[in-house]
Amino acid sequence: MISFLLNNDIIHISQARADLTLLEYLREQKNLTGTKEGCASGDCGACTVVLAEVVSPNNTPKRNLQYKAINSCVTFLSALHGKQLITVEHLQDEKVLHPVQQSLVDHHGSQCGFCTPGFIMSMFALYQQQEQPDRETVIQALSGNLCRCTGYRPIIDAALSACQNKQIDKFEQAEIQTAKRLEEIKSQNISTDNLLVPTSRQELAAAKAKYPQAGIFAGSTDLALQVTQQLKSFDKLIALSAMPDLNQLVEQELGLLIGAALPFGKMESSLLKHFPELSELFWRFAATPIRNQASLGGNVANGSPIGDMPPALLALNAVIHIDNGLQKRSIAASDFFLDYRKTALYKSEWIEAIFIPYTDHKNLVRAYKVSKRYEDDISAVCAVFNLQIIDGKVRNINAGFGGVAAIPATVLELNTQLKGKSWSSSETFDIGKDILKQAFTPLDDVRASKMYRISMLTNLWKRFWLETNQSTQKIATRVVHIPLLRKEIRHA
Ligand code: FES
Ligand code: FES
Repeated sequence: MISFLLNNDIIHISQARADLTLLEYLREQKNLTGTKEGCASGDCGACTVVLAEVVSPNNTPKRNLQYKAINSCVTFLSALHGKQLITVEHLQDEKVLHPVQQSLVDHHGSQCGFCTPGFIMSMFALYQQQEQPDRETVIQALSGNLCRCTGYRPIIDAALSACQNKQIDKFEQAEIQTAKRLEEIKSQNISTDNLLVPTSRQELAAAKAKYPQAGIFAGSTDLALQVTQQLKSFDKLIALSAMPDLNQLVEQELGLLIGAALPFGKMESSLLKHFPELSELFWRFAATPIRNQASLGGNVANGSPIGDMPPALLALNAVIHIDNGLQKRSIAASDFFLDYRKTALYKSEWIEAIFIPYTDHKNLVRAYKVSKRYEDDISAVCAVFNLQIIDGKVRNINAGFGGVAAIPATVLELNTQLKGKSWSSSETFDIGKDILKQAFTPLDDVRASKMYRISMLTNLWKRFWLETNQSTQKIATRVVHIPLLRKEIRHA
């Protein structure tokens, strides 16, 4: 039985379609139509709602609950278990608008109003989570919301103003009480006839064996697209949310071990502490509501050629830990992707965790993503380089690429041909450029043409070479510096 608080009401659901999305549930079963449907694919933010969950006491929290914005169109009902689902209808206190709502009115942040409930909910999550956020933080929080008529400046101003003049609202006042109610319902067993929620590797193996056609998901941001975009239905689903090993992150001596089902939002601080060069890629991985749900395991297991993280895993020599309930095995990321959406996973297996070895601090790592929209978009081309130089000569170079082949791919020839060569020599640059030019036969599609992708690949190689070359660093910053963050774009 799935139990949660819908705004202030306790709801228990024992019979429901496993693949019922939260958006369908709200609009069609609860008549809560303030939450809108735009794209039904996690791209526009019209359907944003907020989930509040009890914070672990180990985190020495200031607040009892943690609030996060999610896209209800790509969320299955099971994600609600033990949490409070807050919709836009619940924000106002009696007849008084919530401060984020009032601020949007005061700043004239709405015209047609279709996007407004989604923006309000993203602002509300930020309001609860951040003390005095700056403009960049506000922009990040709103990165999953699109507005086609008002323009973003008044919306950003409204969020800034509300969050910087914060008052204790009805949610904070009721928080201890709400946390208590959530603790009570959380202990109940979640599994229903259609939804299996294993809590051990044996249970997961048994569930997979019994229902081989069942969809398996962590954050559901990818699997739900099969329901909303391809109109596929799943009689049975297996949720990974209660598998302890799959939902933890361990900073080991030699690297990071990231549980396959852990949401991106929860790995942010550790990942960026050890791999600061992945910052841009991380912040451009979808947008805040998707990162609050999507997992690294899902991004790898779906075998998509345009997933954002596989190029980084290839360049950083990551290892995929696989389990089938009886036996575990590990496989290099470079051996994991076999063909278009085909991976080395057997039907009975799942990814348990991904291990990313720490790089030497002298390694030069760069990650570049080229896409049409800054956030919340799929790469046209993604390239990640990991270079080790000793005495000016290439000792090792690993690279991972997305968007240029049927699978996320590496180019071993870069390493074999460039090893021992002077990194600053233009001949080294030319050899690398020729290798990359020949390495792939990319597709033409709506995102980019084949020619564009090939020229982007060699341009990114040039950028990497210039940025990491001491003799050209000055030229690099002056001539080819491309802004990495919005902050830089606005000041460029
Ligand atoms: Fe567009 Fe959900 S409807 S993100
Ligand atoms: Fe019309 Fe934003 S106010 S889409």
